[in-house]
Amino acid sequence: VDYTLRDFQPTDFEELWRIDQECFPPGIAYSKADLTAYVRAQGAFTVVVETTSSRFQTLRQADDTQASSVGAIVGFIVAEANKRGSGHIVTIDVLRDVRRSGIGSNLLIAAEGRLRLANCDHVRLETAVDNAAALRFYERHGYAVTRTIRGYYSNGVDALVLVKEL
Ligand SMILES: CC(C)(COP(=O)(O)OP(=O)(O)OC[C@H]1O[C@@H](n2cnc3c(N)ncnc32)[C@H](O)[C@@H]1OP(=O)(O)O)[C@@H](O)C(=O)NCCC(=O)NCCS
Repeated sequence: VDYTLRDFQPTDFEELWRIDQECFPPGIAYSKADLTAYVRAQGAFTVVVETTSSRFQTLRQADDTQASSVGAIVGFIVAEANKRGSGHIVTIDVLRDVRRSGIGSNLLIAAEGRLRLANCDHVRLETAVDNAAALRFYERHGYAVTRTIRGYYSNGVDALVLVKEL
């Protein structure tokens, strides 16, 4: 899959929300209101991945979705830098069809670079205790579990808090 990273534009919003619905189970996926608030929050930034590959066109048609072909968004990351030097990964979403090809890693590396530029010396995130793929992914990127938050998600699932020094 060929792809490029670029900054979020407001016209991307519906596509991002659909991707988030596809990536997370009910109770963990964001409502439109929540996702809007996170994208617009002070200190927040969103990076999207756009495919430049015609192979993806075939995959999407097979899925019978309405996504456009070349230029379709296949993943994104929302992160925020607060004034105290703490970065936060709000969410990272990569469509199933294009996982395990380095897109998530590139999004995470891009966000960590932006957080460093914003003077963050560490970054934290939450993920569901049963999200084995995400836990492997974050461990691979040097994140360590620091604690558990009971009932963090609206479906009652606990979250693990992971932290990385930048
Ligand atoms: C987690 C997620 C973002 C990873 O995206 P990705 O583009 O597949 O990640 P990469 O291809 O960069 O993977 C990098 C490494 O992470 C690890 N990893 C990623 N997915 C994995 C999986 N399903 N099982 C085991 N290890 C995995 C591997 O070490 C992988 O390297 P490898 O493919 O060479 O073995 C993606 O699976 C996703 O969007 N999941 C749904 C949403 C989600 O859970 N987000 C994270 C919680 S906020």
